[in-house]
Amino acid sequence: MIPIARPQLGEEEKARVWEAMDSGALAQGPRVREFEQRFAAFIGVERAVATSSGTTALHLALLGHGIGAGDEVITVAFTFIASANSILYTGARPVFVDIDERDFTIDVARIEAAVTPRTRAIMPVSLYGAPADMPAITEIAERHGLAVIEDACQAHGASIGGRRSGTWGTGTFSFYPTKNMTTGEGGMLTTNDAALADRVRLLREHGMQVRYHHEVVGYNFRMTDIAAAIGLAQLPKLEGYNVRRRAIAARYDAELRGVVPPAVRPGVTHVYHQYTVRVNERDAFAEGLKARGVGSAIYYPIPVHRQRPFVELGYDDASLPVTERLTAEVLSIPVHPSLTDDEVSTVIEAVNATAAELGPIR
Ligand SMILES: Cc1ncc(COP(=O)(O)O)c(C=O)c1O
Repeated sequence: MIPIARPQLGEEEKARVWEAMDSGALAQGPRVREFEQRFAAFIGVERAVATSSGTTALHLALLGHGIGAGDEVITVAFTFIASANSILYTGARPVFVDIDERDFTIDVARIEAAVTPRTRAIMPVSLYGAPADMPAITEIAERHGLAVIEDACQAHGASIGGRRSGTWGTGTFSFYPTKNMTTGEGGMLTTNDAALADRVRLLREHGMQVRYHHEVVGYNFRMTDIAAAIGLAQLPKLEGYNVRRRAIAARYDAELRGVVPPAVRPGVTHVYHQYTVRVNERDAFAEGLKARGVGSAIYYPIPVHRQRPFVELGYDDASLPVTERLTAEVLSIPVHPSLTDDEVSTVIEAVNATAAELGPIR
């Protein structure tokens, strides 16, 4: 079976992890600082703050902007639940806006209708490796005095006009094993705002700058030096991985039949965290691929507003027709950089044969 994801960890990662273990620096230490600096330079921002996960990076970003009870944050329901959960953690309320069916990111034309006097921030999600329309979102945010927190947890290295995800407002990344680069578990917040970075660093460490002197109620959201050691080995390989992902995606774009391929907006460099198509009879389609030795996955089978905690909060009557429709149609196929050309051919043959069997999507 060709798996949907295959983390690539090699000798460099192992050597750096051993080195970290031998050094005795296991918790947040010099490797975390180095990883922050290198990641900031890679993304193109002045500051980066490493965290224990993408979820804690999102949570800290919101807290760093002073968002809390009584506030609203505009985001999407077509995402991993962490985007919306991070808003709930602060006591604020997520307000879901529908998505653009072409690239699965927030429909910018619908954002302004969702702005109220309580709105404090817009949290677009750059899903599957495609940046949301960050220039348009930034313009809307500026017009209304709102913060921009990009959930770039799936968009390491993605860009618009050469400017990378994570450079508009506050960026957040995840290094979960299936992501375009990994640290095991881990996350990163990126910003050009030095004061925000300082606030977030304080919150990451139990409000502590001087040992055991606590200025605010904070958290332990630190990354370990072992995780940073993996990240330092992965980061120089990220561009190569992304180039390979794009090459595989280009073959899919050219050779797949009977499915709707993901659209890429002009100027966007997509990094294909996932290659997500829309298909007819999605569950049968996934079975058809499986029977042909090809793994696939649904990201995500239930939109956030229909997940139980959000239903209990009264979100299930939200009107998100595009989100609902695409949730029933999307299927991600393997696009990870370790796929061989033969495996890519197998995926293409399996998709085309299954689509021929089930009929093309209208
Ligand atoms: C869109 C999105 N947001 C947030 C997260 C949360 O990241 P993590 O799993 O590292 O907490 C993820 C990753 O799983 C994600 O894909």
